[in-house]
Amino acid sequence: MVPVAPGDGLSRAAIRKTWGRPGLIPNVDILTLFYVGLPEEDHLPHIQQDLGRESRENGDIIQMDFQDSYQNLTVKTMMIMNWLATHCQEASYAMKVDADIFVNVFYLVNDLLDGHGLVRHKYITGSVIRDGRPRRDTNSKWHLSKEVYPDAAFPPYVSGAGYVFSIDLARMISLASRFVRPIPMEDVYVGLCLKVLEVQPVYAQMFFPPRKLFEIRRLDYDRCTYATRVIVTGFKPQELLDIWGDFQEGHLAC
Ligand SMILES: *[C@@H]1O[C@H](CO)[C@@H](O)[C@H](O)[C@H]1NC(C)=O
Repeated sequence: MVPVAPGDGLSRAAIRKTWGRPGLIPNVDILTLFYVGLPEEDHLPHIQQDLGRESRENGDIIQMDFQDSYQNLTVKTMMIMNWLATHCQEASYAMKVDADIFVNVFYLVNDLLDGHGLVRHKYITGSVIRDGRPRRDTNSKWHLSKEVYPDAAFPPYVSGAGYVFSIDLARMISLASRFVRPIPMEDVYVGLCLKVLEVQPVYAQMFFPPRKLFEIRRLDYDRCTYATRVIVTGFKPQELLDIWGDFQEGHLAC
């Protein structure tokens, strides 16, 4: 599930040619879908036209009826949860991942989620942030007033860059959101829903050698470093295209 701006066709094209390509892993069905809102008024006609063409060609874009903006990302994430709960009950897991991310689908499916035939429930994993706090300074992009969020700390939450969860949680989070006041940070918001549900996010890490599996900073490209991560952040579309060939061919040799 990739939330992406309506006008960001370049990111979508790069993802379709790299980690989002159908049939990457034999016998495992993976569907990559892009979620967009409505373009800003001034750009509406031509972006909407391009989007229509792209959607007819690829059949993987879901557009929702609200203004696409950073502030509305929480709305988009909750619509994704709702979509999953309604249309994807046959799936085992879902992943929410931003459009500027490298995803190692091989490690994700064959290692992280390989339960030897068992599917987990009430499970959500990624890079867990345990010491998050609201910013009270009004100049911050992440400013939250005491009126909107009175508590001094956030509950544990998974970084929004990319997180993976069992499909049952989509419906549970969607239900819990009726009781949780919206805040513009979608990942913290999911954390608030998890708290209501009494579900603890699981930190995806390995000890030998020590590493985070969801790397929320940019790591220099190295085939074998990337082979043992699920995500690495901070990719422009062309950068993703530049490394993918080498990665796909070589990761098994690490
Ligand atoms: C969020 O979406 C709603 C519905 O389209 C819109 O009225 C509102 O202006 C949007 N908020 C922002 C900050 O873009």
